[in-house]
Amino acid sequence: MKILGIETSCDETGAAVIEAGIGEKSVNLLSNSLASSLVLHSKTGGIIPEVAAREQVKFMIPVLEEALKNTSLDEIDAVAVTVGPGLIGSLLVGVETAKTLSFIYKKPIIPVNHLFGHIYANFIEQGQEDIEFPALALIVSGGHTDLVLIKTHKDIKWLGGTRDDAAGEAFDKTGRLLNLPYPAGPLIEKLSKNSSKDLYKFPRPLIDSKDYDFSFSGLKTAVLREVQKIKTMDDQTISNLCFSLQAAIFDVLISKTLRAAKEYNVKSILLGGGVAANQTLKEKFEDKIKDYPNTKFFVPQKKLCTDNAAMIAAAAFFNNDTYLWKNVNANPELYFD
Ligand code: KG4
Ligand code: ZN
Repeated sequence: MKILGIETSCDETGAAVIEAGIGEKSVNLLSNSLASSLVLHSKTGGIIPEVAAREQVKFMIPVLEEALKNTSLDEIDAVAVTVGPGLIGSLLVGVETAKTLSFIYKKPIIPVNHLFGHIYANFIEQGQEDIEFPALALIVSGGHTDLVLIKTHKDIKWLGGTRDDAAGEAFDKTGRLLNLPYPAGPLIEKLSKNSSKDLYKFPRPLIDSKDYDFSFSGLKTAVLREVQKIKTMDDQTISNLCFSLQAAIFDVLISKTLRAAKEYNVKSILLGGGVAANQTLKEKFEDKIKDYPNTKFFVPQKKLCTDNAAMIAAAAFFNNDTYLWKNVNANPELYFD
């Protein structure tokens, strides 16, 4: 089965073709095209939805053409598209494109929840039997921090999530305090490497709470308090602050994920979302997972952690209820149900 995926939920415009259900791999990636309006948002220190939506309109057709360079639309079995959550103006560009293709080429549509996409990025180029259930997914992106239990592809249960800022948001908002460009996550990771000691010992919010909720909004206040005390902000001080911030966020993420892994006796842990692109997070998880010999750990390739259309097509393959174009709508508030 060949699926064309389309992703336009935020500031990335993606189109990808996957082939699944044959061969040794769960999902084969045939093409993965992506354009981003990130540079524009860097200038404004955050995403302006109207600007993101206009860029989506500009990028959609060229990105689609590139993804379909070696596959004709006649070969495609279904069009998968992100219907939410996300920015409504951006989502509509992808959804209307999918509906148009569906109408003209008579292809069914598979609507995809963007958050499921981040989970299913793990299945791309992975062996058929590698990921075993029950699995636990930790989605850590700019908009979301969620822990999800996957018993089967049809039985996916939300265990908990952030009560305020998402993990990526904590990186981005603290980055702004430190005058780092948006999105600050990748730079905070890089600068942290120039430090090796958790000097500031920021709070680890909700680390011992019995639930699987997270709360990261207090961290930026804790960093702000330290910043206000510092007389000269040199490069080493910034690196030390980045190191301590990263350590606080990752301690909470890892501790709660491993507790859930134990409680539900999971066979696999899957990471997803932009923050999962962080190598330090991956290494810390790999280190701790050694104490769980029956649990395998998966992180998608870096470019599949951040938003892309291949993950949307992959999610569609495993949850493939098809819809007629007229019954598909964007839903910015979509969540786990
Ligand atoms: O998944 P994503 O591309 O978009 C959303 O769906 O939100 O995630 C973007 C988020 C941003 O907050 C960015 O700062 C963060 O992921 N991020 C990182 C890294 N790369 C991206 N955070 C920490 N370390 C990274 N290397
Ligand atoms: Zn995302």
